[in-house]
Order: sequence, then C-alpha cells, then structure tokens
Amino acid sequence: MTILLLGSGGREHALAWKMLQSPLCGKLFVAPGNAGTAAIAHNVNISPTDFDAIKQHVLANGVNMVVVGPEDPLVKGVYDFFKNDPELKDIPVIGPSQHGAQLEGSKEFAKKFLIKNNIPTAAYDSFTKETVEEGCKFLETLKAPYVLKADGLAAGKGVLILNSLEEAQDELRSMLVDAKFGDASAKVVIEEFLDGIELSCFVLTDGKSYKILPTAKDYKRIGEGDAGLNTGGMGAVSPVPFADAEFMQKIEERVVKPTIAGLKNDNIEYKGFVFIGLIKVGNDPFVIEYNVRMGDPETEVVIPRLESDLVELFVAVANSKLDEATLTIDPRSAATVMMVSGGYPEDYEKGKVITGLENVEGSIAFHAGTTLKDGQAVTAGGRVIAVTSYGNDFKEAIKKSYQNIDKLNFDKMYFRKDIGFDL
Ligand code: AMP
Ligand code: GLY
Repeated sequence: MTILLLGSGGREHALAWKMLQSPLCGKLFVAPGNAGTAAIAHNVNISPTDFDAIKQHVLANGVNMVVVGPEDPLVKGVYDFFKNDPELKDIPVIGPSQHGAQLEGSKEFAKKFLIKNNIPTAAYDSFTKETVEEGCKFLETLKAPYVLKADGLAAGKGVLILNSLEEAQDELRSMLVDAKFGDASAKVVIEEFLDGIELSCFVLTDGKSYKILPTAKDYKRIGEGDAGLNTGGMGAVSPVPFADAEFMQKIEERVVKPTIAGLKNDNIEYKGFVFIGLIKVGNDPFVIEYNVRMGDPETEVVIPRLESDLVELFVAVANSKLDEATLTIDPRSAATVMMVSGGYPEDYEKGKVITGLENVEGSIAFHAGTTLKDGQAVTAGGRVIAVTSYGNDFKEAIKKSYQNIDKLNFDKMYFRKDIGFDL
C-alpha cells in the first residue's frame, strides 16, 4: 500500500516509524514531515489543511490510505472532503468525520455528548458575549479554583484555571467580550474543578468496536515539579502505574463503552483515534477532555509499546472489521523526554544544529520540530526531539533516555529532568 501521513511532529515520526515496520506498508509519504520522517519516508511539502494539494498528491501518486496526525485537518473536515469527492471517496482516511471531530473542536459539544451519554465529567455551563453577566454570577456559585475553557481550538492555550473569583470574572469578560482567543472564545465553558491525578486513555475505533491502547501520562508544564507555563508536553510515560486492572475496568465500562455507543447512536462517523483525558478523583475516572487524534508526546510512548501491526489495524478500521483484529502490547514500560528550544513555550530561536543523533544507543530519537538544512538536522520548532526508551519499569526507561540525552546537543537546549517524579 501507498500511505500518506499528515503532520510534522514527534507523533508523526513515531507513527511513520511504526507503520514502516508493517509488510503492508509500501511507500510512505509524510506531509509535511520533519528531518526524522525525511530519513525513513518521503516528505512532501504540503500543509495538512491544504485539501486541494492533498487531493492532487493522492491521485498523482496512487495513495491508498491517508492517516491524519493532528486535529486541525480533522476539525476542518478532511474525512468528509474525501468522502464527498467522487475521485477520493474510496480512499480511506484514518480519523473522524468533521462531526466526530467536534469532540475536540468544541468543548461545549464534548460536554453535551458526555452528559447525554452519562459519562462522568465535571459539572458545567456555557456562556456567550450576550450572557457574560450570567456567567459571572454562575462563577459566584462555584468554589475556587475556577476553570474557564474557550469552546474552540486555541492551540492548547484555551483553558484557564484561576484562584480568585475576581480574576475568573475578569478573564471571562476578556474571553467573551474582548475575544482573548479570537473566535475560539466566542463561547466559554465554565467547569467545576476536579482535584486528582491526570492520565490519558487512547482508543482506536471503527465507529462500532474499539481497542484500548496503552495508557499514558504526560507532563505539560515547562518547569520541574510541574511549574510554569503549559506546553504541548515535556515528556510522557506508559503505562501509568496507578491505572491498575480495576481502574482500567472502570474506564472501559464508564467511559470507553458509552463513548463508542454514543457515537453510534448519534450516527457520528468515526474511524480513528480517540484520546480521552481523564482525572482520577478518589478512585473514579472523570473525563476532562476528548481529543480526536493521538497525543504528542504520548504517541512516542504508546505506539512503541504496540506489538500489533499498525497498518493492519488501520485496514481493519477502514473496513469496519476492528472487532476481528487482535491487539498485543509490549509488557515493558516506555518513557520519553522532550528536548525543547530555550524560551519555549514563549519566543525561541530556530535553525540550531542538532549534534550527537548518531550516538544515540538503546533509545529512539523521535524528531518533532526539526528540519534538514544542508543535509543536517536543525531545530525548527519549540519541541525538538523526544527521546524514548523501554525499561522494566518507567524509572529504568527514563534513566536510559537521560543517558542518551547527554549525548545530544543544540544551542539553548532545555529538557525537564524530573519526568515521572509524581509516580
Ligand atoms: P484541557 O485542554 O481541557 O485538557 O485542559 C487543560 C488542562 O487543564 C488539563 O490537562 C487539566 O490539567 C486542566 N483541567 C481541565 N479541566 C479541568 C477540571 N475540570 N478540573 C481540574 N483541572 C482541569
Ligand atoms: N500532550 C497533549 C496533547 O497532545 O494534547
């Protein structure tokens, strides 16, 4: 098969690495890819949201399947674009329909879906510019801290957690009236604060049946001890040690089954990954968010633990035969540590030469924000390289990643030295 993978992050390098291990994978294109995918596949300089260019490439190169990494093209309807085009309709897209992608594209849609399907989640209400004063009153009925979420996609920055009522009311006005996050905050969801420890559950579905992939926990803050600004993720471990069989059973019964049943009941076409963000409150799972794609850097620990053939699973998803597929998981732990550009998640410089990649031993260096310049890998984003390792437990895996990171360098490189500290 000829496959086109959309995206350019560590997630896509990990997906490409895994798909290429499949005997079913002939040629693999990555649009636009990074220096890591360039070394193993064929990068094509197309934006994942330029559907016309994607169409041309697919038809000109005999692409048989499209796998979508990031949320943007899904929320913009790449699945439906293929389905509604006479020349593309028989080429499967791995990812949900635009309707399904609303689970990530609209926080309010996700909350309504959760409540309708009796899936445990924080109590909430949503407000617009017209009802901003009601929103301020609603905040008065809640206890601190206050959780405000921009309804739409806001590049991971749309959730604010505030300690004082006054601050929360000011921020609500700024989101709704001053369009702090542009159109994304034309509507704001205000939620009850859930106090607990976070983890993520990943599911692959064909819309009828599902397979639960390994759990993961990521570390979002830039600073050690989970301090400072939110990032896309500074590291991750899989499995999550506290997600034992009993807790996983609760996740499957209370969250995964009703999620898949809810998609089916509402006739929402969904052939792809569901990333369920959870908080463990006491001994019970609560959903804080859905994403309609794999996580980054969670993919860099989840996918390496998958022993099954990923392309075979995607074919089963496309043919609505996932119930006939088997999933086997590597019992070892995996951990990844993200090396980032100094300054990230605020301003940072690009174009720094990355050295030492050829010396990495016993770990996998998944590229994220990198590109090739004169044949050399240079930095091209905030998150640069995710160094993934296996171990008998997550501590052993993390130790190996740190040993290999010692061999890598670029100007102003930074990484967290405490991944897994809370486990
Ligand atoms: P989200 O983009 O919805 O995942 O929110 C970003 C982060 O905000 C999450 O990873 C949590 O750490 C936190 N968060 C979101 N919703 C809640 C909530 N209801 N209670 C506590 N923390 C939350
Ligand atoms: N690491 C969090 C995410 O991919 O959304």
